[in-house]
Amino acid sequence: MSNNEIKTPFVSSKASGINGPTPIPGDKSISHRALMFGGLAIGETKIEGLLEGEDVIRTADAMRSMGAIIKKHDDGSWTCNGVGIGGLREPENVLDMGNSGTSTRLLMGLIGGHPITATFTGDASLTKRPMNRVIKPLSQMGIEVSSREGGKLPLTTKGPQTVQPIEYRLPVASAQVKSAVMLSGLSAPGKTTVIEEKPTRDHTENMLRHFGVRVESEKLDDGSDAISVYGQQDLKAANINVPSDPSSAAFPTVAALINENSEITLNNILMNDRRNGLYTTLIEMGADITVTNERTEGGEPVCDMVVTGKNKLKGITVPEDRVPSMIDEFPILAVAASLAEGTTYMSGLEELRVKESDRLLMMYQGLKACGVDLEMGEDTLTIHGNGTPPKGGTKVETALDHRIAMSFLILGTVSEEPITIDDVAPIQTSFPNFVDLLNGLGADLKAA
Ligand code: S3P
Repeated sequence: MSNNEIKTPFVSSKASGINGPTPIPGDKSISHRALMFGGLAIGETKIEGLLEGEDVIRTADAMRSMGAIIKKHDDGSWTCNGVGIGGLREPENVLDMGNSGTSTRLLMGLIGGHPITATFTGDASLTKRPMNRVIKPLSQMGIEVSSREGGKLPLTTKGPQTVQPIEYRLPVASAQVKSAVMLSGLSAPGKTTVIEEKPTRDHTENMLRHFGVRVESEKLDDGSDAISVYGQQDLKAANINVPSDPSSAAFPTVAALINENSEITLNNILMNDRRNGLYTTLIEMGADITVTNERTEGGEPVCDMVVTGKNKLKGITVPEDRVPSMIDEFPILAVAASLAEGTTYMSGLEELRVKESDRLLMMYQGLKACGVDLEMGEDTLTIHGNGTPPKGGTKVETALDHRIAMSFLILGTVSEEPITIDDVAPIQTSFPNFVDLLNGLGADLKAA
C-alpha cells in the first residue's frame, strides 16, 4: 500500500445472522517467522497454510532480495531454500516494509547480525512507529543504526563483523523486540539472553527450536522468563504447517456473538496460551464458544471452535496481566463490549497507542461517533453497554489500520444504521479474503 493511494470507503449494513464454516487464513506471526527462518536454514523448508497477506509478502520479498530462494507452488504451498547463518547478502535497494512492524523489527535484528548495510522504510503508518525499542538493544550488540529523529523510519542498519551477545531485560512487553534481539543473537558467539517480565508470544523461540537451534527458557526468582539463544549454529530446514490466526478469527467470532441467529465453525485455530486472551475474556463475558479437538500440530496447540450468538454478553473487568496475550484484540473486544450489558473496563493498554494506529484513540473516537457510551484514559478504556446495538450511521476513520477497519465493519453488522469506513485497503495486510468471507457468512459489506 503506498501512502498516496486513493482510499476505498466501504459500508457495512445490518446482517440477519452470521452462519457457516469459517476458514481463517494462516497466522501472521508464524508466517513471517517461517519465511525468515526458512530463508536462513540450510536445505528446503516447505510451508503449508502461509498467510498471503501484504505484510507477509513484504517479508518474503525482503528475504529474496538478500539471496533466499522463496517460491509459491501451484498447490498453494511455499518453499524456501535458505542462505545459512551469515549468508544474507546486502540488499541492492531500500527495503520497503509497507505497513508491517513485524517485518521491520524482526528483520532489523536478523540483518543487523550480518556485516551488511540495509535501509528500511514503510508507509505513513509505519514511519510514525517507534523503533528506538529495537535500536537500543541492537546498538548494544554493536549494530550501527541511523534513523530519523526519534528513532523513526526510514533508518539504516550496519552490522559489525561479529555482533556481541548481550543479556537484555525488555522495558516493554514486546515479542517483536524480544525476537529482534534473539535473531541478531543467531549470529553472535555464545549466548544471547532476553528477559521478559510479562510473557509475550513465543513463536520465535518455538520455531527456532523446530529448526534445530539451541534455545533455553528459564524462570527467574522474580518470576520473569529468561530466554537464551546460542548463536552461530546453522538452522536446519524443517517443514511448517501454519495454523489459522486467532487474531483474524476474532473478527468473525465477535460477529457471530453479537448477531442473534448465528453459528459459525472455525477449524485449526492456533490456541497458544500467549495468544488466546480474547477467547478467555469473551467466555467470561458469557459468550457461547465451544472449543473442541484440542491438539498439537507442528509444535503449536490448535483447536476447533463453534461460536453462536445465542447468549447475551455481559460487561467485565479484563485482568491487566492478560493484556499481552490479547494485545491485537482490543479493537474487536471494544466492539463486543459495546453490545454487552454493563460496563467493560480495560486497563494497561499503553502499547495500543503505538500499533498501526493509536488504537485507543481510534476506537474511542469511532465508537463515540457511533453512539456508544464510553470513556478513555491514558491507558484505559471503559465501555458502558446496555445490551442493545448502537446507532451507527456514521463514517469512521481507520488511519491505515487493518484491525480498526475490520472492527467497525463488524460493528456495522448490528448497528441500527450502516457504518462506513474511510478505507478498506489496509485489511489486505492480514486478512485478504475478509470481505468475501464475511459476506459469504451473511454480512452485507460493500464499496460505499
Ligand atoms: C507480533 C507482536 C506484537 C503484535 C504484532 C505481531 C509478532 O507486537 O502486536 O501484531 O509477530 O511478534 P509487539 O511486539 O509490538 O507487542
